[in-house]
Amino acid sequence: MTKRIFSGAQPTGNVHLGNYLGALKNWVALQHEYESFFCIVNLHAITVTHDPKLLTESTRNLTRIYLAVGIDPQVSTVFIQSDVPEHAELTWVLNCVVRISELERMTQYKDKAKKQQQENVTAGLLDYPVLMAADILLYQTDLVPVGHDQKQHLELTRDLAIRFNRDYGETFRVPDAYIPKVGAKIMSLSNPLKKMSKSDDDANSRIMLMDDSDTVVRKFKRAVTDSGTEIRFDESRPAINNLLEVYHLITGKSAAEVEDHFAGKGYAQLKGDLAEATIEFLKPFQQRVREISDDELDQILERGREKASRIARATLQQVFERTGLTGSLKR
Ligand code: AMP
Ligand code: TRP
Repeated sequence: MTKRIFSGAQPTGNVHLGNYLGALKNWVALQHEYESFFCIVNLHAITVTHDPKLLTESTRNLTRIYLAVGIDPQVSTVFIQSDVPEHAELTWVLNCVVRISELERMTQYKDKAKKQQQENVTAGLLDYPVLMAADILLYQTDLVPVGHDQKQHLELTRDLAIRFNRDYGETFRVPDAYIPKVGAKIMSLSNPLKKMSKSDDDANSRIMLMDDSDTVVRKFKRAVTDSGTEIRFDESRPAINNLLEVYHLITGKSAAEVEDHFAGKGYAQLKGDLAEATIEFLKPFQQRVREISDDELDQILERGREKASRIARATLQQVFERTGLTGSLKR
């Protein structure tokens, strides 16, 4: 049987180069090898304060971005999480499997909770990884392509699947994370010790996929560098390492080719070339984003909802049977 992949991104803010290089780029590459499900995880987006109007808009925008980076709706299933109520239903069942202590250990939870006033931290924020586990397990997923920051959530997903299978009988496939060797943690342009992040207050720390050319040039120009002048991969110089990694991934040139290209050149050249290569990628991408019509989008999402629902329903039905949630004889 063809193996399955499942992944998703939150429709919050906009997509940055880290999201693309760490996750979306791999979704595109893997979609022909696997039966693929790509979800816009809007239920995750309400775990922190949000503007309802903006969320609706961002949900559609993110769908456009999935398509414009190269996800092919003819081969992949693209859908919105809240369109398939089974995600929330399975979350409830898994909430009765997960231990609170497991959730309190999650570093993403601790980081996000720290950023808010304690009395504003919602139960949804703590529960976020359980919803993510439900997303993945509903589709009997084999592989989950994500960036490095999701590794711990994937481990919890595996633990929950194994525990459920042990207690109620074999029900879920236990998924593996797919974290790329290069690109899984693209760093901030302002501080190469922090990851590039949607929630960073400093907008110059990240390149957004919708940034115009001038902005891209300006942001790379301002990017922090480290001491030393040689342009080569060097673990002890995180800033240059990060910039070269981006260049390597965006141009598809090998590490050796990248170093050859910059031999004897300086930072100004690197930043200029980096901007040029990024713009070359972003221009046609942004054009495709604009070309996708509302009708086309609606059709793709409706087809996605139908296909996803069928599979999610079948898994949830099994879960209900195994857990005794079937009082009436026909369901
Ligand atoms: P999010 O937008 O937080 O839903 O993340 C979408 C995907 O992008 C997830 O698979 C993340 O692991 C990945 N991601 C987020 N930030 C980075 C980064 N700085 N470098 C690489 N991947 C990232
Ligand atoms: N938590 C993920 C992130 O912030 C998004 C996500 C939700 C996800 N459900 C998922 C990723 C299922 C992979 C599989 O990036």
